[in-house]
Amino acid sequence: MAEQIDVKIGNFPGEGESLIFLLFADSLKKNRYLDLLDSKTKGYLKKQIVKTKFLAKEDECLGVVATPMYDEIILVGLGKVKDFNHLKLKNGIASAVRKLVSAKHKTAQLFYFSALGKNFFATGKNISLAYRLANYRFDKYKGDEEKKKTRSLEKLTINLQAKDAAKKPTIEKGMAVGEKIAEGICLVRDLVNEPASHVGPEEMVKKAKEIASGSKGRIEIKVLDEKNCREFGMGAFLGVAQGSEKEAKFIILHYKPGAKTKTKVCLIGKTITFDSGGLSLKPADYMMDMKIDMAGGATVLGVFKILASGHIDVDCEIYGILPACENMPSGKALRPGDIVTALNGKTIEVLNTDAEGRLALSDALSYAEKYLEPDYIIDLATLTGACMVALGKDISGMFGNDDKFLDELEGIAKKEGDELWKLPLYKPYLKKMKSDVADLKNIGGGRFGGAITAALFLAEFVKKSKWIHLDIAGPSYNDESEKGFIGKGGTGWGVVTVIEWLKKLV
Ligand code: BES
Ligand code: ZN
Ligand code: ZN
Repeated sequence: MAEQIDVKIGNFPGEGESLIFLLFADSLKKNRYLDLLDSKTKGYLKKQIVKTKFLAKEDECLGVVATPMYDEIILVGLGKVKDFNHLKLKNGIASAVRKLVSAKHKTAQLFYFSALGKNFFATGKNISLAYRLANYRFDKYKGDEEKKKTRSLEKLTINLQAKDAAKKPTIEKGMAVGEKIAEGICLVRDLVNEPASHVGPEEMVKKAKEIASGSKGRIEIKVLDEKNCREFGMGAFLGVAQGSEKEAKFIILHYKPGAKTKTKVCLIGKTITFDSGGLSLKPADYMMDMKIDMAGGATVLGVFKILASGHIDVDCEIYGILPACENMPSGKALRPGDIVTALNGKTIEVLNTDAEGRLALSDALSYAEKYLEPDYIIDLATLTGACMVALGKDISGMFGNDDKFLDELEGIAKKEGDELWKLPLYKPYLKKMKSDVADLKNIGGGRFGGAITAALFLAEFVKKSKWIHLDIAGPSYNDESEKGFIGKGGTGWGVVTVIEWLKKLV
């Protein structure tokens, strides 16, 4: 990566560069560092604070051009001291980095003061994450080389006060972990942003193999082709794939840190590299973004990239499963009304070929249950438009069969800034998916409760494991404006939550 971040000790930031200055709303009036900085600008800074009515509220970010002392001072509001958390720090710094980049600054210093809390590891992690995630660009297909050069902040220096000097190694440890997590998230963003012409099942295999081969033996990989999948009886997954020219690949990654590890986890990601809807073809407006339908699989690869680095202490055995294929219409495609047989023997009447995610996932879930027998399964899937109708673009829907597991993941997600909301696995709706001619049909009939019926369908393929299903259709991709550490395009939603959850497992 081109960007660089380091820590230096010094009581007050040197001059000449740009400066990120964090402020709490309740200490705006009485803040000796602010006074000091103000005196360096001969009173100009405070005048600007008054003039712009800057109150240091959360989400407030003010740029003050203060040459010649500093190129620009970015004041970042953190809200009230008592409400402070690291998510606010992460968002605040990300906004400051965006501001610096848009003003074409190349370097900046961040003045660190102790009121930011005693958890120096978390501070380092979140500053590093914010910096790298706000710096992320997907511009490889843009021609203007000159413009590209001005699109990132090349160096950020954390200016630690002398009295906190002993904390430098802890901050740096946090920063190193933040860097690895950011690399995983940026991989997810890249894969989601790439068009389906460039990322199909084959390219997902290539990326997975790259991760495994760079893991110093921590990760093994197995790839099943269509012939192998047929031998396993994956009729549902192969049904989705049969309309496409591209061969389906069923990717299995395996991370095993040591002989003593007991807990087994399986991460499953929906990996439809393009979802046209199949013969139940999507209207043009709905098809436009469907290169993102592999975001679940990309998230699993992002997590494995982080595991491959060996930087994060994770002590459980982890499988990653990516059923990768395209959903296309053709003379060979699945027809509405066709019946497929899933790996667990259940027959499915496919009444809408656009409800393909659940078909691919049903075989991945059955494979996990039958051959891997994990304690925990998390699946991530851009599964339903209905989930976006229910929760909007920012929030994922979460379903599961174990309350303790659900509560744990919910708590971690909240802390890390991956918005999610628990939705019910309301059993009576399962009736909607009873078929007249097969065990199940793949749609629930009617438009209502579509995220729930999809989750109930998946639940039919889970047997013993504690399981969580995350419907990430909304937050895996941002086509609105940039907000804090989330830019435009692929977001990498869920990576940090899954990693933090894995770290806590023993
Ligand atoms: N991939 C889509 C869901 C989706 C929609 C993801 C928008 C991201 C953004 C999924 O395969 C799909 O088409 N679902 C259908 C299900 C319906 C046919 C029962 C949907 O949500 O409309
Ligand atoms: Zn679909
Ligand atoms: Zn889909």
